[in-house]
Formats: sequence, structure tokens, C-alpha cells
Amino acid sequence: MAQAFKERVIYQIYPSSFKDSNNDGRGDLKGIISKLDYLKKLGIGIIWLSPIYESPMDDMGYDISDYYNINKLFGDMNDFDNLILEAKKRDILIVMDLVINHTSTKSKWFIEAINGNEKYKRYYYFEKGKKNKAPNNWDSAFTGSAWKKVPNSDEYYLCLFCDTQVDLNYHNEEVIKEVEKIIKYWLDKGVYGFRCDVINNIYKTSLRNDNFLKLYNKGTKYYQNQEGMFTILKRFRNDVLDHYDTFLVGETGAITPKIANRLINERCLDMFFEFDHIFADKSKLLPIFKRKFNAKKLMKALFNWQENVPYIANYLENHDQLRSISRYGDAKDYYKESGKLLALLLLTLKGTPVIYQGEEIGTLDYKEISYEECKDVAAKMAFKTVKKLLHLSDKKVRKLVNETINRDNARAPMQWDDSINGGFNEGKETWLKVNDDYKTINVKNEEKDEDSILNFYIKLIHFRNDDEVLKKGEFKRGYLSNNLNYFYRIYENRIYLIVLNFSKKTIKFNIPLKLRLILSNVENKDLNKLNPYFAGIFEVM
Ligand code: GLC
Repeated sequence: MAQAFKERVIYQIYPSSFKDSNNDGRGDLKGIISKLDYLKKLGIGIIWLSPIYESPMDDMGYDISDYYNINKLFGDMNDFDNLILEAKKRDILIVMDLVINHTSTKSKWFIEAINGNEKYKRYYYFEKGKKNKAPNNWDSAFTGSAWKKVPNSDEYYLCLFCDTQVDLNYHNEEVIKEVEKIIKYWLDKGVYGFRCDVINNIYKTSLRNDNFLKLYNKGTKYYQNQEGMFTILKRFRNDVLDHYDTFLVGETGAITPKIANRLINERCLDMFFEFDHIFADKSKLLPIFKRKFNAKKLMKALFNWQENVPYIANYLENHDQLRSISRYGDAKDYYKESGKLLALLLLTLKGTPVIYQGEEIGTLDYKEISYEECKDVAAKMAFKTVKKLLHLSDKKVRKLVNETINRDNARAPMQWDDSINGGFNEGKETWLKVNDDYKTINVKNEEKDEDSILNFYIKLIHFRNDDEVLKKGEFKRGYLSNNLNYFYRIYENRIYLIVLNFSKKTIKFNIPLKLRLILSNVENKDLNKLNPYFAGIFEVM
């Protein structure tokens, strides 16, 4: 099992929106168990569960109040044990989300701290304000100050996300010990590994002011990729992880291949998620501004990672990103073709493919979601900040936020069939609205349609599961442009050529190699002319 993460395809489940078994409007563990056969058929070998721990859900479980208990909204420990068991029967491994940069303000540790217990105050960053202002000028990742004032006190606490997510203090040995205990607890329960939330933020070297950018002072140079992070992750490895057959995948915004190599070589992480390619259609400085999608930009970022790290976790979607066909494909005229092209890209890159729930059926973003319907705390905070900064009308601000960063787009209930609420439940109002297109885009429809995006994923995943070149092959760059792109995968004496036409145009393709087409998304009689959104795997003969 040690290298299972290199052999298998990962599927991310967002528990609130996967399957609601008790008709209370929110997904749950029993719902997940009821869909394990579906995932098995899809070819999935590992499930990554977004947080299911006890939580007030201000940031949808990424604000944990009790690391040792299951959120009642999702079920209980019995359901969790059953999930591990039922998954095991189907040879599926379970990965948990490990959110250890911060806890919820509802955590016992924080409640003790706020009540003045010095031991627990040292678990967090409590600092005195400066002239009635926050201790420094850092902004939170969700905009607004990264400090929240403690009522009736001159102290503030650090919260780099929303103000009920309190940053833990990793200068404190006791915090490290607590986290090791948590990791051990879940590994002993039979969990295979962890996706580590914002892991390269955990160590704050200093709390100095950030003077780099006046508009938005994140202070990241003092807490991203710090030496202390390497040390702590190595501690986790030596003290706990090395005693198990397990693995860690890190969510690591703002890393470079150099840092990633170090993380892997020093066994801090086994693989990681990079964030460069997601800016192919939006501004890096102000992600609220959309840019016309540029395939060359997307592929260039991916190629850079493919070439410069030994291993990586690949993704096009997750619970924080808008849907990929809406972003990189053509949902209107080439919905199926572009959806399948993206599938083929994801499944043929070097590294472990991570599919997000609904991606396999070509789920799209909402056409519209109002401020009242919006549930994403980050989107809500951004609404306020953008409005204040840019003095735009409410309508304009909503449009900007919804089209670029409103994470609700990825979090709509899964569309299982064409019955009410898309079969997510039996019709009870859902925690977040169901996308209107569920009558056409749903699992049941696509299972019946041989030519569906879902059936293409099934074919591709099973192909990869049995294919050494895709699982183990080296990557070699081919060609980059805003329409035609290709790359090679090489293993022992076999070479694959992966070809992608990211455009509505038929394009010429003649490379002086003898090729055999193994698999493609559309029928293409004359392979010297590639149809719009053609994607194929060829073997070089
Ligand atoms: C990660 C999660 C995101 C969450 C944030 C704070 O980026 O993926 O959903 O809001 O961390 O925990």
C-alpha cells in the first residue's frame, strides 16, 4: 500500500453535497456509503473526504471544533467506521482532510484560551493591539484584517481566513504534540492518509508588518514556506507517519518547484497541489478579475510542474475552484468534447489524478446565484471588500465575485438523476440550491448514454489503472499554443503522445512520427486534421 497513492485515482467528496440519505437537505456519511459501488465502477481507488469533523461550519468544516468527533450533520463514528469498512471491501482507501493551520473559535482549546487559560492562550497568537489597531497590517486570505479583537480586552487573535478560524501557534511544542495525537488517532482508525489544508502556512516566523503591497498586505513572506514548516513536517514524519503505511498530500499555494522538491526529498510531503495553472483565466494579483481563458497559459504552467518535480497531485477542480468546463472548455457548443478533453488531460499527466465530485459528469457552474442564496464565507467577505474598494453597483460586484471566486459554484448538490433535487435527496430543501440543469446533466442520464462524459471518464480511469506508461512514465514536453498542445509520457521502451486541441477550429497536425491511436474523445477519421476539442492518446511506434 505504501505507494498506493501513485497507483490509484483519487476522488474528492464534499460531504455536504454528495448524497443526502436522511432527507435533511445535507449530504452525509450514509449517503457516501450508498454510492461506493458507483465510485468502484468509476475506477476510483482513494476517496479524499473534505472535513467531516465537528464544526460550526462557518467555513464548511474547515473550521474544526473537535478533531476527535464526527459532525452530527454527517452522522456519527459508527457511520464513519462503516464507511472505512465498506470502502475496504471494495478496495477503496479513505483519506481525511487535516486542517491544522487553524481551529474554530468553538474548539475547547480556544474557549479555554479566551477565558484566560494561559496554557491554551499559547496554542494561538494573542497579541496586544497597537494604538487601538490590530497588531500588524496583515489581511486575511478572505480579505479584511487578519486579526480579530477580543471583546473587553486590548488583545487580538490571528485569523488568516475567516474570523472564527484561529491560527495555531507552531512555536509551541504542545501544539505539535496535539496534532501528532490527532494524526495517530485517525490512522489507528484505518484512514490511509491526509490532505493537509494550507499546510505551507503553518509556521509563522514573525508577525511583522507587510509593506509589500498597499492594497492587499497578506504578510505571506513571514509565514509561507518557512524553515519551521519543514522542521514540523519532518517531526510528523519521524514521530508518527513512519510507523504507518500512509501518505500526505499538501495543499500548498505559492510554492515553487524548488520548494516542492525540497518538501518531497526531505519527505515532508509525498505529493502536493500547486496553484499556478488556475490563473489561466483570471488575474493573479486580483483574482476577482476574469481574463479570457488562455490554453497556452494553462499548459505552460502544467508543463513547468511536470518537468520540474518528481511527483505531483494533478487537479482541474476542487471545492474551492469554479467548474472546469465553464472555465477552460466550451460549455455551449462543445460541451461533451471539451469536457472529455479536460478528462483526458487530467488522467494523462504525470502524477496522481484527483477528480472532484461531479467533474466526471461535466457539472457546470450556476448560471446565477443571488447574494441571499450564497453560502461561501469567502465570497461574502469578498462581496463586501470589493464593494468598498471599487465603488461598483451591487449587481456588478456580484457578477465579478460569482464568475471568479464564489466557491458555491463547485459546492452545489451532486446531480444523480432527473428527479426532484437531482436525486440528491427526496425533495427536501437543500442547504445550497441545486443547479437548474440537473434534468440534463446527471449520473443516470450519462450512464445510459454511451457517448457521455461520465462513460469517457470510466474508460479513461480504467485504462490508467492498468497502464504502466501513464502511471509511471516520465514527462516530456511537446508543443504549446493556444489551441494545439501535446506532450509525451515515456516508460521503459514505450512512448505515448498526448494531443489536445483546445479550440473550436479544426487544426492541422502532422508530426513525422508513426503513431497508433489508442484512445480519443471524438471520432477523427483523418488524423492530420484534428477536430475541435480533439484529445487523444497515441502510441509512438
Ligand atoms: C483551504 C480549503 C478551503 C478553506 C481554507 C481555509 O484552502 O481548501 O476550503 O476555506 O483552506 O481552511
